[in-house]
Amino acid sequence: MSSAKPPTEPVPRAISGHDSANALDPCAARGPDSSLSFKFCGLDFASPIVLLSGCVGFGEEYTRIEGFTNRDAGAIVLKGTTLEPRLGNPPHRVYETPAGMLNAIGLQNPGTDHVVGRILPELDFDETRFIANVSGSTVEEYVEVTRRFDQSPIDAIEINISCPNVKEGGVAFGNYPEMSAQVVAACRRVTRKPLITKLSPNQTDIRENARRCIEAGSDGLSVINTVMGMAIDVHSRRPVIGNVQGGLSGPAIKPIALLKVHQVYEVARPHRIPIIGQGGITTATDALEFIIAGASAVGIGTALFYDPRVCKRVNDGIADYLRENGLNTVSELVGTLRAGK
Ligand SMILES: Cc1cc2nc3c(=O)[nH]c(=O)nc-3n(C[C@H](O)[C@H](O)[C@H](O)COP(=O)(O)O)c2cc1C
Repeated sequence: MSSAKPPTEPVPRAISGHDSANALDPCAARGPDSSLSFKFCGLDFASPIVLLSGCVGFGEEYTRIEGFTNRDAGAIVLKGTTLEPRLGNPPHRVYETPAGMLNAIGLQNPGTDHVVGRILPELDFDETRFIANVSGSTVEEYVEVTRRFDQSPIDAIEINISCPNVKEGGVAFGNYPEMSAQVVAACRRVTRKPLITKLSPNQTDIRENARRCIEAGSDGLSVINTVMGMAIDVHSRRPVIGNVQGGLSGPAIKPIALLKVHQVYEVARPHRIPIIGQGGITTATDALEFIIAGASAVGIGTALFYDPRVCKRVNDGIADYLRENGLNTVSELVGTLRAGK
């Protein structure tokens, strides 16, 4: 499964008496290969890897784990944030499925004031780029949250119009191109920061939605959010997930996500709108498939839950592939899918 290879560079000695994770893991100090750096919506990314919203808390989640560093990611997307704090859905909120997981967290978060006032000042913006994930129940709420992040040090704003786990807003906007475009256009008016729209796979034609979001002013697209699903406890004959339905993520959705990226790329390419491809990526080969399909960056979410060191493996595997194929940068590989067999 893993395409990780032993380090080819001499391994520096850990500094004695220094107990930080980076000192213990010599590879961590090295950072991603320089061939992996590129610009995404005008921002410098050290790697094509983006750690996905809801899977990495507010940027601090894995930093205590030996061998993990935020520097291995080109960007980190913070947990979905609404104007007011939210407690989220009743349990169970997560459930493991064959090759994936269902979740219905329900956008639990401490609210925009807390995120902007307390959490952002604690983040180290030298480590990586940080992207806010904006959610809401009304267009006005999306706009207000976007406005507050616009006045913060955050690097970019991702609009989550595709959350399947809340009763109002979320996917109710994302599944209808006209409503998606309204949200994007309204948020566009209140920020000059890069605006990335996260598209739902739970709709008839993702291409049309992507086109409308681009016309409305989106600078980038995240493809895809989770796929709606459910699980039933046959003993109680009740839904396992408290919210009845949840979002399916992990390797189970990878083929769906890959096709959606391929479809959205057709629409986004003429406008030079970059895509963060995501859905079930766990290896460098998965990531390469998404890049060849048209993704400029690749998101990793669920894989972090069982392997927080996945970023290093994926970075190394992509860098090896570039070398072996005579490519100097990841950008040279984006959208290079050959027609037919
Ligand atoms: C537990 C959990 C919470 C999530 N929360 C959010 C969220 O708050 N906002 C959002 O846009 N996406 C959220 N997502 C979706 C992920 O960001 C990602 O798009 C999706 O899981 C597909 O990627 P993966 O298969 O690598 O996990 C969440 C996913 C999981 C598993």
